[in-house]
Amino acid sequence: MSNLLVTGATGPFGQKAIETLLSKNTGDTIYAMARNPEKAEPLKEKGVEVRIGDYNDPESLVTAFEGIDKILFVSGSDLSNRSEQHKNVVDAAKKTGIKHVVYTSFQRKNETESSPIYMVAESHMNTEKWLAESGMDYTILLNNVYMDFIPMFIGDQVLETGTIYLPVEDGKGAFALRADMAEAAANVLAGKGHENKTYDFGNIEAYSFQDAADILSEISGKEINYVSPSVAEFMKTMKEAGVPDAAAGMSAGFSSAIAQGEFITANDDMKNLLGREPVSLKEFLTQVYSS
Ligand SMILES: NC(=O)c1ccc[n+]([C@@H]2O[C@H](COP(=O)([O-])OP(=O)(O)OC[C@H]3O[C@@H](n4cnc5c(N)ncnc54)[C@H](OP(=O)(O)O)[C@@H]3O)[C@@H](O)[C@H]2O)c1
Repeated sequence: MSNLLVTGATGPFGQKAIETLLSKNTGDTIYAMARNPEKAEPLKEKGVEVRIGDYNDPESLVTAFEGIDKILFVSGSDLSNRSEQHKNVVDAAKKTGIKHVVYTSFQRKNETESSPIYMVAESHMNTEKWLAESGMDYTILLNNVYMDFIPMFIGDQVLETGTIYLPVEDGKGAFALRADMAEAAANVLAGKGHENKTYDFGNIEAYSFQDAADILSEISGKEINYVSPSVAEFMKTMKEAGVPDAAAGMSAGFSSAIAQGEFITANDDMKNLLGREPVSLKEFLTQVYSS
């Protein structure tokens, strides 16, 4: 029997991980760490022990981790301060004698500043390094892009407009559902034999945006085209459409990263951890766009 704690427990990833842990009935005690006590109330109602901790506040983390054996460390969402925050988490885990940290990192290939998603990847690479140097056992989950975000990339109105417009060229990504990743992460936390391993948290196959267009054509009975402009052309079109620069830049960055093969790794790691195939792009798009 172990004391297992999930950080980021008020976000969708952490919540799904906790639901999975509760449903497994392993006899372990499940703790949730949240920075906002009010947001954590529903977790208490599910029978989870809540600890309050903030990645910005090292002392709160030491208190939150007291008596815990293993943590699922869900990466934070504040990109500008994330490296410092994650250093606080690793240091506090080490100080309190945590035995094993399971960390939600990020899939990537290019680890240099020339990566179009360096602003996301840098803090993940730092955190992996600190965990490896910490002396604690660790497991690195290389999360692919959440499939849940594909509708944001291609647009809610794509069946009406008839066109997917994104600078991804013929790039592919092994996108997987956030809920599948969280379920697999919970299985790692509660399971055995995952010490000092790295898993690719993506799908069993990689998908292109032409694949998405073909699936949408099949679902709707209408021809959906895929158009890949240059990044400059994409940014100009987004500006003319009134899309804020930051949002357009994020879409362009991720599109370029997919085009460059950053997320192409597809294998059975998640399938093996789930004990079933992850939800496919076709299943997901059918669920989202056929209602
Ligand atoms: N692979 C991908 O495509 C992808 C996409 C987006 C994000 N991500 C990463 O995956 C993580 C989990 O995904 P998600 O969808 O559940 O994200 P989310 O909705 O942004 O949730 C983030 C969680 O982290 C908590 N958190 C943020 N800052 C914190 C701090 N300073 N101290 C303590 N807790 C803090 C949040 O608490 P509050 O509820 O109080 O805000 C929330 O529980 C994200 O945080 C991000 O690192 C991955």
